[in-house]
Amino acid sequence: MKTLTVLGSTGSIGTNTLDVIRRNRHAYEVYGLVAGRNVEALASQIVEFSPKVAVVATSDGVAHLSNRLTGLGLSKRQWPELLWGNSARVQVATSAEVDTVISAIVGVAGLEATYEAARRGKRIGLANKEALVSGGNLLMRAVAEHGAELLPIDSEHNGVHQCLRAGNRGEVTKLLLTASGGPFRDTPREALARVTPEQALNHPTWRMGNRITIDSATLMNKGFEVIEACWLFGFAPSQVQVVVHPQSTVHAMIEYSDGSVLAQISATDMRMPIQYALTYPDRCEAPVPKIDWNQARRWEFLPPDTQRFPLLQLAYECQEAGGSATCTLNEADEVAVEAFLQERIGFLTISEVVRETLTRVPVRTARTVDEVLGIDGESRRVARELVAARSTAGAVTA
Ligand SMILES: NC(=O)c1ccc[n+]([C@@H]2O[C@H](COP(=O)([O-])OP(=O)(O)OC[C@H]3O[C@@H](n4cnc5c(N)ncnc54)[C@H](OP(=O)(O)O)[C@@H]3O)[C@@H](O)[C@H]2O)c1
Repeated sequence: MKTLTVLGSTGSIGTNTLDVIRRNRHAYEVYGLVAGRNVEALASQIVEFSPKVAVVATSDGVAHLSNRLTGLGLSKRQWPELLWGNSARVQVATSAEVDTVISAIVGVAGLEATYEAARRGKRIGLANKEALVSGGNLLMRAVAEHGAELLPIDSEHNGVHQCLRAGNRGEVTKLLLTASGGPFRDTPREALARVTPEQALNHPTWRMGNRITIDSATLMNKGFEVIEACWLFGFAPSQVQVVVHPQSTVHAMIEYSDGSVLAQISATDMRMPIQYALTYPDRCEAPVPKIDWNQARRWEFLPPDTQRFPLLQLAYECQEAGGSATCTLNEADEVAVEAFLQERIGFLTISEVVRETLTRVPVRTARTVDEVLGIDGESRRVARELVAARSTAGAVTA
């Protein structure tokens, strides 16, 4: 029996994780559920999974959650301990009762709990890529020093992890991460200036949270994944290549020194990598259709267009630059994506805000989580000023 804490239980990865657990109740019990503001969903999860502790983002959230649990008729004896805020997130991720933590909060809000879980030597199923993009150096050092296990849930990295089991790491020359290309794969640059949040949220192959869906439309997400791959597997950015593969069925490939390429192929369903992170090194039946090889199918592989999607190239440059450049990249993007979703800036302005923030925030080396969060706050402030300057006329600028 494994005991889990799910950071971000109400999100897309969190609910998929709970679905895997629902189907394997004999193997897992839930110690902690951590959400942000969605107390409705969290209350239902409490009723179903009976965690010992439930955490929300704010003290108001605890009050709302209490009302909701009362409304659902759950007797107080059955309530978990209700907590809020960052120190509570750290507490449920590091409890001695927990052996596995699923890190699926979006953004840097998940960094400290993930980092502290690594310092306690936990198994971490990592979806929260921003933790690595912002604090990769710190997190990987904690994993190495404390014998933690970091298993990637991002489907591409999970695919790489699976492929690497086939051979000798020293003979791998290249990692290939596939990208669907997002909803605007074939949209001309002039038209990109006018796309709406609704169109950008309409991802062709994956159903995910809003931030990662917009990041998929700009290819920023793929840029973050390049950075994530460098940290997770110890490769240089030049050894990580992105290939557009609209069918999203080949998740990743690795190339060996003799030119042989191995691919990881599976259905487009996040329960696959989540289950792998939970059961590794074993495998078990998954609630996902297997590929029907009797059906004719066509798979395409194309190079990405970094002229129309400059954030991908910027991610490579930031990882090469090192230090806090990738932390600033992440925060500037988060602010710009939020402004785009609020229709305060246009789609093409997202990359302008990110690039300009990077020129204004000096690159440093963060040695602690607090230092990462300091750089993070500074980057957000600068990005917000840039957004405000671009949206003052009230018009959405491209
Ligand atoms: N979705 C995918 O298929 C996918 C694939 C690969 C990687 N990822 C990565 O996985 C992470 C989660 O993505 P997602 O798509 O699941 O996002 P999502 O659906 O937006 O869910 C985000 C989760 O984070 C919680 N959260 C946000 N701010 C919080 C805070 N301050 N304190 C505590 N919890 C907070 C949310 O809680 P509330 O909803 O309760 O506010 C929610 O549970 C991201 O890093 C993403 O890049 C996702």
